[in-house]
Amino acid sequence: MKKNSVLVKILVTALAILMVAACLTGCSKKKGKTLDEVKKAGKLVIATSPDFPPFEELDGSKNVVGIEIDILQKICDELGVELKIEQMAFESVLAGVQACKYDVGVSGITVTETRKKNTLFTDPYCLAAQAIVVTEGSAITSKADLTGKKVSVQTATTAEESCIAAGYDVSSFEANSDAEAALLTGKVDAWVIDDLTAAEMVAVNNAGSGAKLVVLDEPMTTEPYAFAFAFGSEDLVAEINKILKSMLDDGTIKAIFEKYNAPFTSPSSN
Ligand code: ARG
Repeated sequence: MKKNSVLVKILVTALAILMVAACLTGCSKKKGKTLDEVKKAGKLVIATSPDFPPFEELDGSKNVVGIEIDILQKICDELGVELKIEQMAFESVLAGVQACKYDVGVSGITVTETRKKNTLFTDPYCLAAQAIVVTEGSAITSKADLTGKKVSVQTATTAEESCIAAGYDVSSFEANSDAEAALLTGKVDAWVIDDLTAAEMVAVNNAGSGAKLVVLDEPMTTEPYAFAFAFGSEDLVAEINKILKSMLDDGTIKAIFEKYNAPFTSPSSN
């Protein structure tokens, strides 16, 4: 064998060993970051779908703002790291966190038993509910009236889950605004969405000149909101739970809701 081809063989083998080693330490890790890893990185990367006022939405300069962004900013200040925001459709938030592409899902996420199987949640910081939205003058005035009706929801949400479970004729949309438009254009009879977002989007719609919308008084569900992590982030979540508890105890979270003119329901009020 020539000297050169031996050298090539050695190089190729070395490269293969290096690639396997990189894969073993890198790709197979698929675990959420620890507190130490986040501190070393100097940043907390959040995944969010900013179509959910007052929790996260885009302001006039296309910055993501809202209740949850303020809460996360406080948490990052306490941890001494920078807050980095990645925007995406709601259906990609939990999947991205589970795949460890982002450190935390921040998107008005409801804690459910199903989600707990593959997601690590912080303690809840507030309670919300699913609300039913209809056009003014609609014959639908309560949850019971939804039987057999066409309902729009956002894809991968608890609204979608509960409306399918209830047997309604469900149309799912990636963007909340499209679920709202389906109601405004008469493609569906009702739109089911979390209560505070319903109140805010309906107020914006009703300030315009088009058809008016009404949020029904009867809520569909009660749901706790929390922040979502991948398994492996247990110590980070424990630290964030301490921060959240003190923010709940000293009224910081309530004050953030007030800043956005939103009613606050404590996670402990049942
Ligand atoms: N709370 C609901 C859920 O967890 C809806 C959240 C939608 N969030 C959003 N940013 N669009 O499924």
